[in-house]
Amino acid sequence: MAASLRFDGRVVLVTGAGGGLGRAYSLAFAERGASVVVNDLGGDFKGEGKSSSAADKVVEEIRKKGGKAVANYESVEAGEKIVKAALDAFGRIDIVINNAGILRDRSFVRISDQDWDIIHRVHLRGSFQVTRAAWDHMKQQNFGRIIMTSSAAGIYGNFGQANYSAAKLGLVGLSNTLAIEGRKYNIHCNAIAPIAGSRLTQTVMTQDMVDALKPDYVAPLVLWLCHESCMENGGLFEVGAGWIGKLHWERSLGAIVRRKNQPMTPEAVKANWKKICDFDNATKPQTAEESTGSVLEVLSKIEDGGGISMNPTSQAASVATSELGRAVGYKISPWTFEYSKLETIIYALAVGASVKNPDDMKFVYEGNANFSCLPTFGVLPAQKSLLTGLLTEIPGVHINMGKLLHGEQYLEVYKPFPSSGKFSSEGVIVDVLDKGSGSVILLDVTTYHEKEPICYNQFSLFVVGSGGFGGKRASEKVKPSVPIPNRPPDAVCHDVTSLNQAALYRLNGDWNPLHIDPDFAALGGFDRPILHGLCSFGFSARHILRQFADNDPARFKAIKVRFAKPVYPGQTLQTEMWKNGNRIHFQTKVKETGNVVISNAYVDLVPSSDETSANGPIKLIFHIQFPVHLYQAEGLQSNLVFDVIGQRIKEIGKELVKKVSAVFQWNITKDGNTAAIWTIDLKNGSGEVYQGPARVPTQATFTLSDEDFVNIFAGRLNPQQAFFNGRIKVKGNLILAQKLDVILKTYSKL
Ligand code: NAI
Repeated sequence: MAASLRFDGRVVLVTGAGGGLGRAYSLAFAERGASVVVNDLGGDFKGEGKSSSAADKVVEEIRKKGGKAVANYESVEAGEKIVKAALDAFGRIDIVINNAGILRDRSFVRISDQDWDIIHRVHLRGSFQVTRAAWDHMKQQNFGRIIMTSSAAGIYGNFGQANYSAAKLGLVGLSNTLAIEGRKYNIHCNAIAPIAGSRLTQTVMTQDMVDALKPDYVAPLVLWLCHESCMENGGLFEVGAGWIGKLHWERSLGAIVRRKNQPMTPEAVKANWKKICDFDNATKPQTAEESTGSVLEVLSKIEDGGGISMNPTSQAASVATSELGRAVGYKISPWTFEYSKLETIIYALAVGASVKNPDDMKFVYEGNANFSCLPTFGVLPAQKSLLTGLLTEIPGVHINMGKLLHGEQYLEVYKPFPSSGKFSSEGVIVDVLDKGSGSVILLDVTTYHEKEPICYNQFSLFVVGSGGFGGKRASEKVKPSVPIPNRPPDAVCHDVTSLNQAALYRLNGDWNPLHIDPDFAALGGFDRPILHGLCSFGFSARHILRQFADNDPARFKAIKVRFAKPVYPGQTLQTEMWKNGNRIHFQTKVKETGNVVISNAYVDLVPSSDETSANGPIKLIFHIQFPVHLYQAEGLQSNLVFDVIGQRIKEIGKELVKKVSAVFQWNITKDGNTAAIWTIDLKNGSGEVYQGPARVPTQATFTLSDEDFVNIFAGRLNPQQAFFNGRIKVKGNLILAQKLDVILKTYSKL
């Protein structure tokens, strides 16, 4: 069980603590070891009168339970006196809960000056007075926690509460600024908008509601926010009935309604209104600097047409550099990712798999016997953390998502992905590096399928403009990129991307308008929308899989890339590859410009079975695709498979004879008896397949049932397992038998 949160040695001042929420806070803090100053003026809910009894009662309650508390009867407007009471009684002040409050509800025109002023004096000015009196003490001791009490009436407005809602939203502004000014002294300030049954809400709630919405359901949030281990600062929370939610500002992407040297008109505003108010892909500015920075950036974009490097959006840099170090070790809340064959196929199409390549059919057609998922699909479950803004949840660290560039990517696949499934992922920031012009956040994400790790990603995220803070430049946690060999490439593949490539790739979940909206791209300094880096990455990985791994996802182990330059949809991607054992080094260029867009990259492959040691265990991986209707034919199903193999040998037999140079006999059984014998001769002439025993010496003979034979070819039975549990019997040269892998994979091109 987690250790209980204690407040021993801490001194807490709660204003308006004679009843309602303040009383609940006071009791809860005292119960956990704090010394409490119970302040309450003791007037009525409109702010009239005064009495010491409310505060005294709560102090008595605390003391009865063995806690430490003193009463104070000043109005919060006398902040100095209240803080002095804390210092006199306990010698310090650590935590201030600004809670005192009254109401003067009236419809707007009936609000008198007095109604307006007293509400502001108690809520806003009172919180200011008390907090200012405590501030220097907190600063000197390098610790302080402050709560401002706001209200839903302030956040959303409420009929009859113009005075109250103005003061209550004023408290959010006060809290936001104190959070910034206090940060470096470990003084954190947060605001809450509670809902609870109390004297104040009695007039608007039924008695049942008052009884049900206990102040005790608000107090635990206040305690957590005030604990020394809580790094939350500048937050705003709604809380009540046992529920807590955090609020933040959201800003639509907006529209640029002015062109250079042209007047800005209300007509242009009207014309763009829908876009201005469209909250799809909204951003969440977290600082005033971030907010105004982006506006200034628009100014210079319009006036100068200036450009920025790779991939930024319209936001200004805004990572408080000293904060970034705090992010190291931060674990992002786990998330899930569910997909079906639809997503599997969309991904394959989006990275250029095509029906024009017969061996791509297994990636784009769910009816294909070997329907499977491309290995680079593994970036999608992991990147969901970035796309849903999980990085912005790091307490005390403000990362402007608009300034993040995707610098490098590493993906390691532990097992081939099923063609549909539900994954869960967890992410951790393993390091933050200072690269001068910016910083690099290393985010590791491990993805699980049915509790087993299925892949691992490392994102290197470059945060523009946040470097130069004297941090380290390198980390042992980085999966390093590797320079390409100094010789001409061993193989080169091309693919022309379509004009719709980025529009298609967006369907994988990265909806950033930079990849489709010309205005948005212009804001980032690009002539037109650019392709997703991970789309080019997918193209190149596919080229390598086809060129060096027989298009077999099971052979794909890992990939590392560095994104060097943007690609525009419609350009031709050229992957240059160098084989070095099981590592394929590569770089990707835009053919039309010669620009290197992915550099220092490699793919690691699992050695193929024909590359494994001759003494190693027999490993047969059969890959063949044939039309589904063949399964339904009369008689022995294997006959049809042999027919298909025969066809293929007619086409490329010569090539196979050169590669394999062996004769295989197949004894196919039905109900335990031999039902057919077939021979595949890949040693003589141009090779042939015929029914009957081999007419020449064989190198290996396989005996297996008709059903197992078909299941192996359809990918439903693992041949290696079938061999070890006795379902396939092999006689003869086992090592040569492994060559079947090569032959049968060639058939998958059918
Ligand atoms: P409450 O009326 O039970 O408690 C407020 C306390 O503040 C009273 O004991 C009162 O004597 C004291 N107080 C008033 N003026 C004071 C002054 N000048 N100096 C010192 N003490 C003073 O009400 P409740 O509901 O516990 O309210 C606590 C805070 O939560 C208030 O700021 C209120 O505006 C806020 N709030 C409460 C909501 C609710 O659903 N209960 C909703 C939204 C905000």
